[in-house]
Amino acid sequence: MNQLGIIGYPLSHSISPEFQQAALDHHKIKAKFHRWEIKIDELNSFFETIQDANFVGASVTIPYKEQFLDLVDKVSDSANLIGAINCIVNTNNQLVGHNTDGSGFIRALKTKHGFNPHGKKVLLIGAGGAAKAIAYSLVQENIKEITIANRTVSRGDELAQKLKSITPKIKSVKLERQSLIKPLNDVDLIVNTTSIGMKNSLNPEHSPIPVDLIPPNTVVNDIVYNPIETPLIKAAKMKNAFTIGGLDMLVYQGVEAFELWTGKHAPETIMYDAARKALGL
Ligand code: ATR
Repeated sequence: MNQLGIIGYPLSHSISPEFQQAALDHHKIKAKFHRWEIKIDELNSFFETIQDANFVGASVTIPYKEQFLDLVDKVSDSANLIGAINCIVNTNNQLVGHNTDGSGFIRALKTKHGFNPHGKKVLLIGAGGAAKAIAYSLVQENIKEITIANRTVSRGDELAQKLKSITPKIKSVKLERQSLIKPLNDVDLIVNTTSIGMKNSLNPEHSPIPVDLIPPNTVVNDIVYNPIETPLIKAAKMKNAFTIGGLDMLVYQGVEAFELWTGKHAPETIMYDAARKALGL
């Protein structure tokens, strides 16, 4: 039997095994998708044992996305640019690292919601790992301009600096009301990549941006999926914005990974439904 799985620590929250197994079963692929909760000191021996002929690939999650760059045999161009991998593919016994976070985010936007970021103005909240993957993918879609708003301005500046060679119109501002007034006055897409609004975080009731500043006729995408309706999503709905919840990016990074592992078209709706079911929705 072929073996796939998700590697991370801790993994109790992960619903990838449920929606990936549903996709494998849909295609009648004889494979098991595991929950590989591996501690850091077990990583090397784990790698030795999975490198047998039946290992197809794996998703990689917290805290290993950056560390795995040094553990695989080859890294894709986009994963190299982003500086993190979230997916490994066993290609002729060579482990190749990919990053499907950004491509999954874009695919959900375009194919599920019919929103093409080409020529659009974006406000990206946060400058961490997820923000980086999304920012790289957005600038490759030829967006018109992007403003990065982060609590720690130096981190936002650093990301803006890296992207400057690819996109001409990029700004970094502090994540605070005064600095957000102007970018929010003329924006097409707002993306939250911070944990503000996440269940069990320090600020589960907060929106990352002042809700009165959310313009109508905007697309608001929160990559937080627990809860499914974050304070930002609730506020955006009240302002008649078009909202996209975090489950889409989670499922679509998995859709892209599934296609890399199997070469088959991923059953998107089946995966999305399995993800909702795993969350008890
Ligand atoms: P991930 O890989 O999920 O993106 P990360 O790399 O740790 O995680 O990045 C977390 C992001 O959320 C950062 O932009 C962080 O802001 P800082 O760079 O200032 O740390 C942001 N973030 C997390 N908690 C926050 C909070 N309470 N208020 C504002 N920003 C927060």
